[in-house]
Amino acid sequence: MSEAAQNGRQDQGLSALHHEIRRFEPPSKFVDQANAGPGIYAEADADPIAWWEKQAESLEWAQRWSEVLEWKVPYAKWFVGGKLNVSVNCLDRHVAAGKGDRVAFHWVGEPEGDTRTITYAELKDMVCQAANALTDLGVNAGDRVAIYMPMIPEAMVAMLACARIGAPHMVTFGGFSSEALANRILDGDARVVITADGSYRRGTQTALKPNVDEALKQCPEVRTVVVVRRTGQDVEWEDGRDLWWHDVVDRQSTEHDPEAFDAEQPLYIMYTSGTTAKPKGILHTTGGYLTQCAVTHRLIFDVKPDTDVFWTAADIGWVTGHSYIVYGPLANGVTSMMYEGTPDAGGRDRWWKIIEDYKVTILYTAPTTIRTFMKWGEEHPAGHDLSSLRLLGSVGEPINPEAWMWYREHIGGDRCPVVDTWWQTETGAIMITPLPGITATKPGAAMRPFPGISADVVDDSGHSVGNDAGGFLVLDHPWPGMLRGIWGDPKRYEETYWSRYPGRYFAGDGAKRDEDGDLWLLGRVDDVMNISGHRISTTEVEHALVGFPRVAEAAVVGASDDTTGQAIVAFVTVKGEVSDEENEGGALVDALRAHVAKVIGPIAKPRQIILTPDLPKTRSGKIMRRLLKDVAEHRELGDVTTLLDSTVVNLIDEQLQAGGTGEAD
Ligand code: PRX
Repeated sequence: MSEAAQNGRQDQGLSALHHEIRRFEPPSKFVDQANAGPGIYAEADADPIAWWEKQAESLEWAQRWSEVLEWKVPYAKWFVGGKLNVSVNCLDRHVAAGKGDRVAFHWVGEPEGDTRTITYAELKDMVCQAANALTDLGVNAGDRVAIYMPMIPEAMVAMLACARIGAPHMVTFGGFSSEALANRILDGDARVVITADGSYRRGTQTALKPNVDEALKQCPEVRTVVVVRRTGQDVEWEDGRDLWWHDVVDRQSTEHDPEAFDAEQPLYIMYTSGTTAKPKGILHTTGGYLTQCAVTHRLIFDVKPDTDVFWTAADIGWVTGHSYIVYGPLANGVTSMMYEGTPDAGGRDRWWKIIEDYKVTILYTAPTTIRTFMKWGEEHPAGHDLSSLRLLGSVGEPINPEAWMWYREHIGGDRCPVVDTWWQTETGAIMITPLPGITATKPGAAMRPFPGISADVVDDSGHSVGNDAGGFLVLDHPWPGMLRGIWGDPKRYEETYWSRYPGRYFAGDGAKRDEDGDLWLLGRVDDVMNISGHRISTTEVEHALVGFPRVAEAAVVGASDDTTGQAIVAFVTVKGEVSDEENEGGALVDALRAHVAKVIGPIAKPRQIILTPDLPKTRSGKIMRRLLKDVAEHRELGDVTTLLDSTVVNLIDEQLQAGGTGEAD
């Protein structure tokens, strides 16, 4: 673990523990939570395998499994020999049960009044048509399909159509650059890309297709690009490669005979940042994944399919969107919301208007967004009737107690329980969380492992730390939704997750058990930053910066930020001198920020870039990131005795105090 990491572990989240810890007992009206009842933990603890088997039985299987779990560390197979089709579980079985008229999605586009309502029967038809189209285009089971789309219904249709024909999808968040997209397409060897002309964000049209065109210059194997017309903007067209969605999908039959696939058939690859510059392709499969998505969604959110309107306010391009916009809610036959735009499009009360209009009952979002709403002021939610809400969820980063309380009071009317849910792209579904009708909640704590999940907090040597102590989070038994590997790189899979504590999964997060034994997640302990709930690797950003011709060396740290949790601060040395002219009005710094956005995507733009003549290094030549983090967070510098040249730090510090270092707006 790097020094920066150790430091991060100490300061993130622990501040939460300095506040008075409040405790909210479970409200009695949730006690029959999805028919579970308080005995659920004891039942799962007594025999987790039997408990998971029971959960899998709530799905529709074409063939039952012969064995629940085959575990050859670190490779798991769940529901061995079982066969199912994910899209049948999400669609056909609900329609067959007479629920075809139930709304699957209320979709709200960013431009006011641009809405669609799609029932389960309609969604099934759309997915069947898209599945037929993909088959016509030569996509077979096992072929990877890249999806690069905005938050429009076709994104979900594309994912489910892939699932239906057993073709793993690789969704890349629409905010990623063409280069990031190209790297993913190449790594996963996708030959078909599904995209849109563009979308609406913050009141303007953004373009997606040009990024695909640019990316595909590096991906000669891609033979087909299917383009949804969302905005109608002009797009470049490559005949023979580019096809309109409406041309290839709309003419297809709504009948499609689904094949049942093995429980371990790959469902998707989702790329996420690790500690090196190359993102990891996290592989998820079907039977176990869908089982865990469905049961976590059902129990944690206490869903009542007949009455709930569930809203995961995240992008479909992240794992939260995969598991809790698409697979969990649809497997449970629930009505969901899907919103295309930003929270302030058309006014800072846009979300509250949506909740009022559609009588949303459950809201699931990230602490960053909650903190942004706090900054905007409580008058925005206060102007709307939010009485339909009965439960609130948080995900993606540690939630500070102030944000938790604000969420509970100003959004939840002091009556809705707040569930803080910890999980990762790798875990596939929620792992640590309260069950709102059964366990108490505490502002800032994820409380305890979900039934059937086993987690521990351990010290460096792997010993459990006990109560009122901190350490590293490990998961010590396989779970159904766990990643099945890193695409094309088994060695990295074994080393990243399973080598530090052999036989146990190392999550890369710091955690603490409080005096009651409840769990608090404290943020990353490696060189991964968490910016607005998005995982970005320091190395990836450094790599991008060093790719800029003028840059000699770069060091990147995640500095704490009141709104985004962490923010990217980069320390950059350039080749030769920077003339006043070159950086006039911060021109060089702006160019560097734009360069990072181009290489990775706008989400990776450093908040601040500090040009420095040198970087602080140890005598062995290692950059002292811990120190840089102290500088970036304006902390008193600790021990600098091992620094090669401690004046460097003073120089950087002076620059920072003087401002003018390229602070982003
Ligand atoms: O550091 C943890 C943080 O987000 C990381 C996982 O990021 P990602 O794979 O992008 O998935 C995000 C959505 C599931 C974790 O290693 N994290 C996620 N949820 C929480 C959290 N940190 C603290 N509390 C949480 N509830």
